[in-house]
Amino acid sequence: MFVQTFPITRGDFDTAGEASSKIKNMLKKLGISPRIVREVAITAYEMELNLVIHSLGGELKLEVRPKSIELTAKDNGPGIEDIKLALKEGYSTASESVRNMGFGAGMGLPNVVRHCHNFHIESELNKGTLIIAGYSLDEKED
Ligand SMILES: Nc1ncnc2c1ncn2[C@@H]1O[C@H](COP(=O)(O)OP(=O)(O)OP(=O)(O)O)[C@@H](O)[C@H]1O
Ligand SMILES: [Mg+2]
Repeated sequence: MFVQTFPITRGDFDTAGEASSKIKNMLKKLGISPRIVREVAITAYEMELNLVIHSLGGELKLEVRPKSIELTAKDNGPGIEDIKLALKEGYSTASESVRNMGFGAGMGLPNVVRHCHNFHIESELNKGTLIIAGYSLDEKED
């Protein structure tokens, strides 16, 4: 199994996107099919940006197994009050300054759901959020 963890710093827009870019390159090197690489890259980017923008900091973890890939985003708060609402297209609590940087369309989490095979989210206020996006690698059409 291949595992790599990337610490993600809150508010660090200079390095935002680097972890997901590394993940994409790692998967390419591991010979994962381009279609899955593209899907995982989209998910990794949305998870990473959410950690930068909405969390107090956390980590993004990539796990590659023979028949599956798992991406995990785990943070130290502040947690999500209403998960169902957070998953709705267009819902965002992003600040004006973050919106001016081009984020905050409220499409990140819906994109993650759309671009993974298994989605898990749990969150506790003042504690943190855990999101897992899973991919199955034994599809014949790959
Ligand atoms: N790790 C997190 N911690 C706390 N709140 C979060 C976290 N991730 C997402 N959220 C909440 O869920 C909302 C929806 O997230 P989503 O990624 O869909 O949209 P966005 O980040 O606001 O905008 P976009 O992703 O389109 O730039 C966020 O605005 C925020 O309120
Ligand atoms: Mg987002």
